[in-house]
Amino acid sequence: MRTQVAVVGRGPAGLVLSHLLALAGIESVVVDVRDRDTIESTIRAGILEAGTVDLLVDTGVGDRVLREGTRHDGIELRFAGESHRIDLRGLTGRSVHLYPQHEVLKDLIAARLAAGADLRFGVSEVALHDLTGDAPRVTFTGADGSAVDLAADVVVGCDGSGGVSRWAIPQQERRDHFRAYPFAWFGILAEAPRSSEELVYAHSPRGFALVSSRTEQVQRMYFQCDPQEQADDWSDDRIWAELQARVGGNGFALQEGRIFERSVIPMRSYVCEPLQHGRLFLAGDAAHTVPPTGAKGLNLAVADVRVLAPALQAWFATGDPALLDAYTDTALRRVWRAQHFSWWMTSMLHRSDDASAFDLRRQVGELDLVTSSTAASTYLAEAYVGWPLSA
Ligand code: PHB
Repeated sequence: MRTQVAVVGRGPAGLVLSHLLALAGIESVVVDVRDRDTIESTIRAGILEAGTVDLLVDTGVGDRVLREGTRHDGIELRFAGESHRIDLRGLTGRSVHLYPQHEVLKDLIAARLAAGADLRFGVSEVALHDLTGDAPRVTFTGADGSAVDLAADVVVGCDGSGGVSRWAIPQQERRDHFRAYPFAWFGILAEAPRSSEELVYAHSPRGFALVSSRTEQVQRMYFQCDPQEQADDWSDDRIWAELQARVGGNGFALQEGRIFERSVIPMRSYVCEPLQHGRLFLAGDAAHTVPPTGAKGLNLAVADVRVLAPALQAWFATGDPALLDAYTDTALRRVWRAQHFSWWMTSMLHRSDDASAFDLRRQVGELDLVTSSTAASTYLAEAYVGWPLSA
């Protein structure tokens, strides 16, 4: 079997890339070890930057985002018992959309299949070969048990932090920038009415909490916890008490309901450098991970392939590798900014185990500054809605 671009992984990076390549007349085959149901139901984050929404709309896969997603023109930072609004739209002219990642994936899968794309779900034993020559290959076992040898001009690894692609860059050529955080997020989905029109990022002496939403009837919330916490040890009552203690007060209380999903989400930062090894390119979580506080994960994946797709297009059209050779530097510039933003939001809002009264008051001082200085809130707002691709 042969194609132009073998795409390993069909998360946001792999599917958007395959979609953009198809629009440029470039063929791809996308393989993933997960089955379609798993991909379309795994719960991930939900904030789409303005540029991510523009891309989906401009390339014909944005109908549902606009119809069923919710535009958010601001976020709330809550600390010392009060909420303070960051007016994203007023400060930047742009907004974000709340629309869950798995819904984006459903839309992309439907669009790719309607266009006749070759998407292989549920494959196993994926291996990458001959990446430094001009005839790289991907081998795998298809869902039906057949052995497949896929020859390509280029391989793009979009298989996330647990995939094989990252490790295909030899250790001696790869720098792994890794940082683990000493806390995790306890995430829930609950059948309850919305407690707030906008997302609430809350700082409290008990630690961070975030109030987000999925639909009118289903709410998504998180609170900072120990990475060793077992989600099943927590009763609904205990979870609500913890959330209320961190977020509620001064007339604000969360609307409670049945909790039907709970999990502990680790927090880490990772950047792989470079993002290229011969004819292999990495994109999305295969290349970098950010903690969820800045809502940057999916958006960085999309930004990577918005750089990679035109670079591949130029190379296929003219043979000129200049843009491909620049891919690592171009993509990592945005990635490192997003690493900083995610780390900054995390450190401003979370409580370390060894935090002193000084540390907590210093965080409140910072939050006070960020919510009252136009310069500081504009920095946050620009980062949150997403920097322009060229900046
Ligand atoms: C979510 O809705 O799941 C969500 C929103 C904002 C974040 C992280 C997660 O920063």
